[in-house]
Amino acid sequence: MERTLTMIKPDGVNRNLIGEVINRFEKAGLKVVGLKMLHLTKRQAEEFYAIHRGKPFFDELTTYMSSGPVIAMVLEGENAVAKTREIMGATDPKEAAPGTIRADLALSKGENTVHGSDSLENAAIEIAFFFSQSELLL
Ligand code: CMP
Repeated sequence: MERTLTMIKPDGVNRNLIGEVINRFEKAGLKVVGLKMLHLTKRQAEEFYAIHRGKPFFDELTTYMSSGPVIAMVLEGENAVAKTREIMGATDPKEAAPGTIRADLALSKGENTVHGSDSLENAAIEIAFFFSQSELLL
């Protein structure tokens, strides 16, 4: 069993897609074991995306991610990291496979509706960023 961190980004929350996104993950057999809504500060967004510091889109990304509330969610299941990324589709909605969240719902490479950890190692770091042990199902 793996756990991964997913976020519904501000464009997803704004456009009332919280239920739609969670439904897609749950239907694929992933279990929600932690969930919260919060509005990141610019500094928190910079900390969360520290791995992208220095990239040309870093300021745009962190400004956007602190522009409105997000849903942070921990999903559990077999191969949860890869499965979540498959359900989300490629970063750029124009390149995402049909039927994926980003192909169906995302607006652009930046406003791409969802985030999912890209490795088990990053999942542990990202889960710890948002959740304490007592906020997750055992
Ligand atoms: P995410 O999976 O949250 O991880 C990093 C994010 O950076 C990525 O999704 C994209 O939304 C964003 N991103 C990547 N490339 C670009 C880009 N060229 N312009 C704007 N945002 C980008």
